[in-house]
Order: sequence, then structure tokens, then C-alpha cells
Amino acid sequence: MAISVNNLKAFRSSFLDFVGDPFYAVESESVRYIADGLMVIAGDQIKALGPYEQLRAHYPEVAVTTYPGKLIMPGFIDIHVHYPQTEMIAAYGKQLLEWLSQYVFPIEGKFQDAAYARRVASFFLDQLLCNGTTTAVVLTTIFPQSVDVLFEEARRRNMRLIAGMMMMNRNAPDFLLADAPTADQQNRELIQKWSHIGRLSYAITPRFAITSTAEALQLAGKLKAEFPDVYVHTHLSENVKEVEFTAELFPTSPDYLNVYEKFGLVGDKSIFAHGVQLTDAEFERLSKAGAAIAFCPTSNLFLGSGLFNLEKAKSAAHPVNVGLATDVGAGTSFSMLQTISDAYKVAQLQGQSLSPFKALFLATLGGARALSLDDKIGAFDVGKEADFIVLDMQATPLMAFRNPIPTANSLDELAEKIFAMMILGDDRAIQATYIAAELAYERKETYRY
Ligand code: GUN
Ligand code: ZN
Repeated sequence: MAISVNNLKAFRSSFLDFVGDPFYAVESESVRYIADGLMVIAGDQIKALGPYEQLRAHYPEVAVTTYPGKLIMPGFIDIHVHYPQTEMIAAYGKQLLEWLSQYVFPIEGKFQDAAYARRVASFFLDQLLCNGTTTAVVLTTIFPQSVDVLFEEARRRNMRLIAGMMMMNRNAPDFLLADAPTADQQNRELIQKWSHIGRLSYAITPRFAITSTAEALQLAGKLKAEFPDVYVHTHLSENVKEVEFTAELFPTSPDYLNVYEKFGLVGDKSIFAHGVQLTDAEFERLSKAGAAIAFCPTSNLFLGSGLFNLEKAKSAAHPVNVGLATDVGAGTSFSMLQTISDAYKVAQLQGQSLSPFKALFLATLGGARALSLDDKIGAFDVGKEADFIVLDMQATPLMAFRNPIPTANSLDELAEKIFAMMILGDDRAIQATYIAAELAYERKETYRY
């Protein structure tokens, strides 16, 4: 039977994605690598992926875009990033609480102005695309208009995005506080307006325990119970002084996680950023709840917060869902490759080793699983949405010198090459980014070795 070619397109290159979690399965069985592959796309979904020589005969009429010597992977998933902090990334000299007061809060006040917020949102989303990030979980500010413009700009780009209005009603300057009932009403309106519109999802987003009263967290929990599909997104146990202050503010909670548990905010659609200072008991309860931790290595290093214990989070006894996150503006790069590079070093400092395949799993299918979106994104299974990136392992003179032959004929060879790319690469290694099968970004200057 002839297959209609009208809405089909195809790509030829090397392909790498994951079919299992390399932290728990034999690594070589969790990786899918096709040295010379063909991916066929129908509309915005993957229809077939296989060796070029086998698959081409089934689709003789379909036009093929070829990326010789490149590597195609699912788009990166950044599960925790602050768009309002784009403009103050790389602010000098402070740890978390002072850094928030000195640099972050004044900037976030500017997002009352919707036109300003839109300019930043637009620049921010374009930064995601040129870094190969196709899905992100994004923090905003207390101003509903700062959420609207982000969702509008994401929709214009057809990006899959999770975001919500930041809730804060204490321990910040007055211009950044909204009383809890007002914020609750605004959240309800935003959920009605944006939840499940196109590729968008909503997250109830109390900033962290310190900036919310018990009343505000209780309303957040009530909202979550009424809208179980909606995510919960916040910070947890990042910095020692933050943990101490939280204990003072919530003296009846035995630990930080319990503050959120008490109000019904810990479940399988909860995303907690950092988790650097967690106790074993908290790791175990996060595992039981099916909640996710966003591992933010560049941020944890930059603010001197500490070393996240990835091995403990991914233990066989109490496995926790972990995704990678840039956490800009405490994070120092929008690049998930740079984020992986620091994740590797954080592991090294603890005598752990993060293999290249494990790292790329966290940045793709691992992130999708952490967000319960693995039925839609994160890998190249048939029926998934065609968000993918074209990686150039020879993007800079040094990368090309290190990797004179860009293609790999075995998993061992591939591991060595992608590792060098992860350590040396950044936005320059992203040749192209496709959103729902459409070209959304293409790198103009390419280096020729
Ligand atoms: N904890 C509460 N707010 C923030 C923030 O904006 N950045 C980081 N890194 N941690 C936080
Ligand atoms: Zn953060």
C-alpha cells in the first residue's frame, strides 16, 4: 500500500536517545544509537526511526533533510529556570538569601510592566532554543501579566512549557508581595486561561517556604486538590541558612519537606529545585511520593549552596525522579551541555562518576519522566512529539581538534565523543533546534575544520 507523502518529512543523520534509565538498567541496553539513521515524521509526530538502509525503501518519495557528521537527539528539558532573572545572571559575591535581596527582588519588581516582561520572555525563550532546550519548567514573578506574556510567547513558538505565577506573601519587599486570597484568585484565573492550552501546562508556584505563610501554602494545597492535573513547583533545601530560617518559621514541622507535605503539596507532579541539604528521611519520602528533584549544578556551585548527592537520589532502594536544570540566574548558563559539565564535576567531588549516557538521559528522557511527560517527549518512540536537536561535536576549533572524526561506530566510541562534547560544548554545539518537526533555530556561523 502506498503511503501518502503529503505530510511526511524525514531526517538522515546519527541518532541517539534512551529506551530505559541507565541508572538502573544495563547502560548499553538503555541507549538507542543508530549511526546512519532515518527518522520519518508525520505532521508533528514521529512515525518511524531506523537504519537508513532499511527504512528508506519504505518511504522512497519522502524528501530527506540530511545532517552528515552530526548527531540528532531529543530536545533538552530544563526542569527549573527563572525567566525574570535572565538580565541579572552572573551577579557577584553573595549566597542565596543575600543574593535574593540584593539582586533578584529588585529585578523581579520590573515585571509589573507587561511590555518589559514580554521583551525578556521573548529573549529568554530564544535563548532556550539556541541552547537546544525545547521544554522548560519556568518561574515567573508575582505579577499575573508576567505569566501571560511568557505563555503567549511560548505559544507563538509552539514550545512545550510548564509555568505558573510566583506566590509570595512575606519576607520580601512590599512591591513583591501579594496577599494569599488575591494570589489564589489570580492562580484560578490563570489556570482557567492557560492550563492545557496547546502545549502549555500550569504549575502552582510558591517561591519557597520562607516567602509563604501557612495560610498561603494551605490555599496552594487546596488549589492543587481542586486541579490535580496541575503541577506544584518550588524550591527545597538548597542552602543551610535557608533550611535554618524555614525551621524557625515552621517550628512544628520536623523537616523542610514536611512543610510542603503538611499542605498537600508533595506528589507525583511536584518539582522541587535543589535538594542539596536533604536528609535521608526526606529522600525516602520524595521517592514514595513520586516527586521530582531538579538538579541545578551550576547554580549550586555559583551560590556556594553545596553538592547535590545524585547517587543517593538515584539509589535502588529509594529512587527519586531527577531532572537537570539550569536555574538561571543563579545558574550560570542556559546550556544544558554546560550544566552537564558541572554535574559531572559535582559528582567527581563526591567520589561519584556521572557517565555521559547517564548525564544525557537526565537532560532528555529523565527530565520527561520527572515531569510525567514521557508519553509525549524525551525520546524518539513512534507517536512522540518531534522536538529534536542537531548536535555538532566539532562546533569549535578545540572540539574539532579533540574529535577529528565526528561519527562513532560503537557505543564505546560514542561515549568518548559525546563526553568531550558535554565538557567542551555550549550553545555553539547546537546546529539546529526543531519544535514539533519545524525548524525553530539554526546556527548561522559554523566552524569549518
Ligand atoms: N530560592 C527561592 N528563590 C530562589 C531563586 O530565585 N533562586 C534560587 N536559586 N533559589 C531560590
Ligand atoms: Zn530556582
